[in-house]
Amino acid sequence: MKKNALKIKRNALCPCGSGLKYKNCCMSNPERLMVHKLRKLKIRLKTPEQIAGMRKSGALVKTTLDLVEANIGAGISTNEINEWVHQFTIKNGGKPAPLNYRGFPKSVCTSVNDVVCHGIPNDRKLEKGDIINVDVTTILDGFYADSSRTFLIGRPSPEARHTVGVSRKCLYLGLQEVRPGNTFGMIGRVIQTYAESEGCAVVRDYCGHGVGLDFHEAPTVTHFENNDEFHDLEFVPGMTFTIEPMINFGSNWRVRVLNDGWTAVTVDGAISAQFEHTVLVTESGVEIIV
Ligand code: MF3
Ligand code: CO
Ligand code: CO
Repeated sequence: MKKNALKIKRNALCPCGSGLKYKNCCMSNPERLMVHKLRKLKIRLKTPEQIAGMRKSGALVKTTLDLVEANIGAGISTNEINEWVHQFTIKNGGKPAPLNYRGFPKSVCTSVNDVVCHGIPNDRKLEKGDIINVDVTTILDGFYADSSRTFLIGRPSPEARHTVGVSRKCLYLGLQEVRPGNTFGMIGRVIQTYAESEGCAVVRDYCGHGVGLDFHEAPTVTHFENNDEFHDLEFVPGMTFTIEPMINFGSNWRVRVLNDGWTAVTVDGAISAQFEHTVLVTESGVEIIV
């Protein structure tokens, strides 16, 4: 959709369905118009009950990531991490969202070193000097929450540690832009400006996303400057989405997907790191769901 596809002529019928001319209806009532815009963009504002459900699901994702953080280290295979996440999620009444999602074969994504995202757990053991992103998405009572962290195994290279630090700060810079009145485009702007100033590149082929009632909902949350249909959209209380910048060391943002159909790696073999939060827009700003 073009950016100005939502621009409405004053004498046209009001898109809210009232049958009145736009100038005699929602043109003077921006809140009502926002309802229409959100419907057109397929963005679902969550009710207080849905938000409560997402918080519970988020709490389970957080304890799952804490469990991984407490036990991860050299000698652990990514299949073991998959087992921990799978069993802990089930034991607590949840379902691991990745399992069988569009054919994904495991319950968690484990992305090591030059793997950007969607790494599939396997028997390779982690070694000192690796970095690994563990991305957990849980369905609890039908509600999705999605969060990831990158862990250091031993003491990785200065480049790797730098990239991890930049990716964490990118997430928090993006978060700081989230408040009613500000726009989605600001997230990508601050993240790209900072990442590039630190000698890193922002991956473009994978983005944040609406989340809560489904794994991936509208909007798409880009972490780089661009002109998509969400660029000028304002944050509205009740929106829930992820911010999850994938940051490559160096200037190359390009990725390629391996023959398994999932594993995305940097084309130049550079290190890539990522952190992800699921957030809720509130009246006063932002709440981290997980
Ligand atoms: N959790 C990832 C995200 O942040 C999506 C993983 S899809 C899967 O959007 F199928 F690989 F699990
Ligand atoms: Co996500
Ligand atoms: Co995720």
